[in-house]
Amino acid sequence: MASSITSSFQTSNLRSVFLGERNVLCLSSVPVTRVGFLRKTIECKDSRIGKQPIEVPSNVTITLEGQDLKVKGPLGELSIAYPREVKVERDESGILKVKKAVETRRANQMHGLFRTLTDNMVVGVSKGFEKKLQMVGVGYRAMVEGRDLVLSLGFSHPVRMTIPEGLKVQVEENTRITVSGYDKSQVGQFAASIRKWRPPEPYKGKGVKYADEVIRRKEGKAGKKK
Ligand SMILES: *[C@@H]1O[C@H](CO)[C@@H](O)[C@H](O)[C@H]1NC(C)=O
Repeated sequence: MASSITSSFQTSNLRSVFLGERNVLCLSSVPVTRVGFLRKTIECKDSRIGKQPIEVPSNVTITLEGQDLKVKGPLGELSIAYPREVKVERDESGILKVKKAVETRRANQMHGLFRTLTDNMVVGVSKGFEKKLQMVGVGYRAMVEGRDLVLSLGFSHPVRMTIPEGLKVQVEENTRITVSGYDKSQVGQFAASIRKWRPPEPYKGKGVKYADEVIRRKEGKAGKKK
């Protein structure tokens, strides 16, 4: 199933990528006179991430038409529509380059962001992404039933979640959940929605956490010690 990055990516994504770019933004301000106006043009340092070329493995097919890119690989197909601030080029060796089409602050932000999104697409359809979760707590369990993920989290009823198309969910030892798929944002969003049922509480760390998540424990009232 082809799904579109442009439709599925959300403000949170935008924000996080922008934050990563923040420290490489604008170096200096150069005042430039235009016919009748005094305009301030901001000259930006190139985005460090934006400049990195994207290697396309042989099992990935790229279709580039104007501002639309389709990426097809063994794991799936994704597409993206670039804003006019950036342009994408493909050289003879098959390497993709995201370039700025204009020199504006916004183009600079778009440059890094869309380079990252493009790279995620290429990696997604060839190698895929995964997010691992760990359930911590007596009686907390997970299992996959058909296309449903069933979670026992201490509520009166088990939580049943339909696994979205394009995603795979595996459960090991009843408590370790792996979400995988070719669309990075979809993998991240589904993993987050599992965790949301029981985010780890800060006292005993009970709940559903990302496998690599460190829970900063608060001390209970009784056991206060230095
Ligand atoms: C596609 O090619 C890449 C690079 O050679 C490789 O790492 C990846 O495993 C391949 N994907 C599949 C599903 O075979």
